[in-house]
Amino acid sequence: MRIDIITCLPRLLESPFGDSILKRAQEKNLVTVKVHDLREYSTNKHRTTDDYAFGGGAGMVMMIEPIDRCISALKAERNYDEIIYMSPDGELLSQSIANQLSLKQNLILLCGHYKGVDERVRQHLVTREISIGDYVLSGGELAAAVLADSVIRLLPGVLNDETSALSDSFQDGLIAPPVYTRPAEYKGWNVPEVLLSGHQAKIEEWKQEQSLKRTQERRPDLL
Ligand code: ADE
Repeated sequence: MRIDIITCLPRLLESPFGDSILKRAQEKNLVTVKVHDLREYSTNKHRTTDDYAFGGGAGMVMMIEPIDRCISALKAERNYDEIIYMSPDGELLSQSIANQLSLKQNLILLCGHYKGVDERVRQHLVTREISIGDYVLSGGELAAAVLADSVIRLLPGVLNDETSALSDSFQDGLIAPPVYTRPAEYKGWNVPEVLLSGHQAKIEEWKQEQSLKRTQERRPDLL
């Protein structure tokens, strides 16, 4: 898989992809993540990528031209399955969207800033808009990192057995059961007896029950 991220603040994306699982996934060539600085596609001498809104109003608007030039340059190299604009008024990110996107070959994630992008970008250049939640961030970069992380960890070979995505919360529509590690007793707080019993069938049954109970308590809307 290849993910191209278009942003006017490329440094914001250095650390999420430069560490841990996302870093290793790239080292193992399971994914290529390229961050593109929108300023490099600006045609004016100050390399600006935003301008005042027609009709007035507070806040700058990201111009269509640098975005179009960047997307066109990428599209000249390969076909993209989706060109996604990260936006608080997009479709809400879910495990099922992450699963769906993890089957694609090439994705572009466009990060907005200020008051957003010129509406014509949304009308003519992007294929989909995704939000990571009903709150407004200062830019789409952190949202793009969240989306990319949720997708990349599902690619075959990225996670080992220990961290397998199949046992995640939401993957089967339920919240994951609680987990414990040593010591079995700490300050009088004990690990549930069944987990120490060595009886695998009983342990699985307990985990399933706990998943269901947690989902009922915390996210009844998932049931
Ligand atoms: N950009 C600003 N806020 C956002 C959000 N909640 N989701 C995606 N992109 C955003």
